[in-house]
Amino acid sequence: MRNLGSNIKITVDNLTVNYNDDGPDDAPIIIFIHGFPFNKTTWNKQVAALKDNYRVIAYDVRGHGNSSAGNADFSIDLFAKDLLGLMDALKIEKVVLCGLSMGGYIALNAVEKYPERFDALILSDTTCTADTPEAKEKRLKAIESIKKDGVEKFADESIKNLFAPESFATKKEEIAAVREMIVNTSQQSLYKTLRAFYERKETCSKLTEIKVPVLIMVGKEDKITPPAAAQLMHEKINGSLLKIIVHAGHLSNIENSSEFNGHLKKFVASVYSKAEN
Ligand code: MLT
Repeated sequence: MRNLGSNIKITVDNLTVNYNDDGPDDAPIIIFIHGFPFNKTTWNKQVAALKDNYRVIAYDVRGHGNSSAGNADFSIDLFAKDLLGLMDALKIEKVVLCGLSMGGYIALNAVEKYPERFDALILSDTTCTADTPEAKEKRLKAIESIKKDGVEKFADESIKNLFAPESFATKKEEIAAVREMIVNTSQQSLYKTLRAFYERKETCSKLTEIKVPVLIMVGKEDKITPPAAAQLMHEKINGSLLKIIVHAGHLSNIENSSEFNGHLKKFVASVYSKAEN
């Protein structure tokens, strides 16, 4: 019997991973990976939309939400290894993987290393490129500014870039919840994740090797990983679908969940109807 519901704890390679697991036992499985520095609750609307027909798992990435951080330096390789560790611990062979931004970096890394473990991929508001020298410089400045001015200021500065202008009027509660997630992330985890982004390798050159169906989504007003980044991945991934989400910035799954969920449901249904034929 599997554990069902929210905030389940499991030990994976000495790390405590906090996750939720909903939906029927024998249904196809979708795993959601959140962005930085948020937590699995950013996927609540997607979990609710899918859990009647699919087994849906969302987890807190190492150092985020209620998962522990461990002692190692963070890297996208390590985050991908954690994902595979979680799948192994839950005895899950294959899933559809959906990642937003940092979650997308992890998904792209995981599909490159363990392609046989994934039936399909959803890449949301993310990019295959490494940090440019300017972006690397900003990572270091962010670390310095958190040390100097604290995490509240970092949260306020981050919020300005995360959302489409109209969301500040229409999504006040959601924005407040995201701010809470940022300020509740430990400073050590913020530094270690920013370092991991700084060191992150590009995955663009590997995209032609992806053989599974891929849906790419991006908020029309995403300033962090803009539609051009999504377009680049779309051009490289054979047969991929690209959907631009209106009324949305970087957190398109929250800012326009109805459009996001519509594409998500249609895509996942198409993956499994094809598999059955
Ligand atoms: C995220 O949402 O995960 C971050 O914006 C990723 C990044 O800063 O590169």
